Amino acid sequence: MAAEQKTRNGSQNEHIRRWCALPVPYPEVKVQRPNRFYAELLLEDYAGQVSETTAINQYFHHHIMFEERYPDLAELEECLSIIEMWHLEMLGETIRLLGVDPQLRTLTTNKQTYWCADYVYYGTALCDRLAADVAAEKAAIANYREHQRLIRDPHIVEMLERIIMDEEHHLKLFTEAMNKYCNPK
Ligand SMILES: [Fe+2]
Ligand SMILES: [Fe+2]
Repeated sequence: MAAEQKTRNGSQNEHIRRWCALPVPYPEVKVQRPNRFYAELLLEDYAGQVSETTAINQYFHHHIMFEERYPDLAELEECLSIIEMWHLEMLGETIRLLGVDPQLRTLTTNKQTYWCADYVYYGTALCDRLAADVAAEKAAIANYREHQRLIRDPHIVEMLERIIMDEEHHLKLFTEAMNKYCNPK
């Protein structure tokens, strides 16, 4: 059990060595006790309209679309998509520990809504895509702050704080990309 924990913590912190990551370790994924309400809040961050699943797929699509003409932006989108996948894993494990199956759906207002591929902003050109990526990070930060306010479990609050640090870093990186390519002189 101890060995398994050690391995998990090791792989957990491999993510901070990626070039686009913040070099700050992630806390261990744990919860005080099962709680369905907290799981429902986190399912929104996991697979709602503004969610890690949407961010992963949006940035991955933009990565492919930027590859030919903007290799630096393509690399940024790919790297951030992978960090969002790590957020998805932490949220999914937390939702499972809270007692709910982390399928890609929300359960808010007693309705099951599966994640939908049209949540992704596919875009048509460089600057509308980057603007959508900036907006996605801002919306994610606002949702995480709101959920942090509603959740009393200190382990989850700490994990959300660390994820917010990443999203603020992503916001900075996307804003810098916009300033470089999209602001008329
Ligand atoms: Fe994220
Ligand atoms: Fe992000």
